[in-house]
Amino acid sequence: MSAKGEKAVRIAFDRVSVEFPAANGALKVVDDVSYEIRDREFVSVIGPSGCGKTTMMSIVAGFMQPSGGSVRLDGRPVTGPGPDRGVIFQEYGVFPWLTVRENIAFGLRLKANAVSEAERRQICDRYMGLMGLADFADAWPRMLSGGMRQRLALARAYAVKPEFLLMDEPFGALDAQTRSAMQDLLLDVLQAERKTVMLITHSVEEAIYLSSRIIVMTARPTRIREVIDVPFGYPREEKLHESPEFGALRSHIRDLVMKEYAAQALQTRPAH
Ligand SMILES: Nc1ncnc2c1ncn2[C@@H]1O[C@H](COP(=O)(O)OP(=O)(O)O)[C@@H](O)[C@H]1O
Ligand SMILES: [Mg+2]
Repeated sequence: MSAKGEKAVRIAFDRVSVEFPAANGALKVVDDVSYEIRDREFVSVIGPSGCGKTTMMSIVAGFMQPSGGSVRLDGRPVTGPGPDRGVIFQEYGVFPWLTVRENIAFGLRLKANAVSEAERRQICDRYMGLMGLADFADAWPRMLSGGMRQRLALARAYAVKPEFLLMDEPFGALDAQTRSAMQDLLLDVLQAERKTVMLITHSVEEAIYLSSRIIVMTARPTRIREVIDVPFGYPREEKLHESPEFGALRSHIRDLVMKEYAAQALQTRPAH
């Protein structure tokens, strides 16, 4: 911590821009975005579909480089993926050629995370239990439902105890009850383990319930529309959803997001 008592900056976006080559020139997706995520913060990113959220997270994950500016982790520019980051992307995180148990054990076999075989077994059992996958230890991912595969991806990411969790709509394919259970489980994991989290979600309620800060992004090319400090401490309880403060925050953020959806619809409407 600094002299002012502020926590260290762990993830820094510094004037990040991204352009993709397109048929008629370049598609500008991210436009001069700067923000900082501090130690143990839980930051949610919300914005219209196609605005550039996954693109921003891919840079933090080390899957791609920005066209301009930089993303730094603990002050160092990101140059590639690493075991410090647990990544849960929509199309990433489960190996189809490994069983459920082998998928969870995979990260624990990497040199940076190496643990004994007994410990590995114990960690796998623990996360299979937490995720309701205990009866499927030796099943292949193709035998699981979409929601179960998503829970397997979560188990894999949590098992290696990464310092950073980068989650791109991790609960999207889950039914309402499972989604709520997975949100509470994530909050429990965060109470027990030190992590800094960046979450992309379409759910305003999920963003408020889980986050310490919410970044609302504009339509493409995406910029920061508003940064909202969530005024609730941890631990959190389900009944927070019913508080008037939660309701007021929800309508404010919904309003912002709806305006950006409208702006994007206007922008992508075919010309006649
Ligand atoms: N590799 C790529 N090449 C070209 N265009 C891309 C690529 N990745 C994403 N895009 C485009 O960039 C825009 C933002 O995509 P994305 O970051 O996935 O949006 P979001 O996650 O906010 O829905 C979209 O228009 C998408 O088509
Ligand atoms: Mg996306």
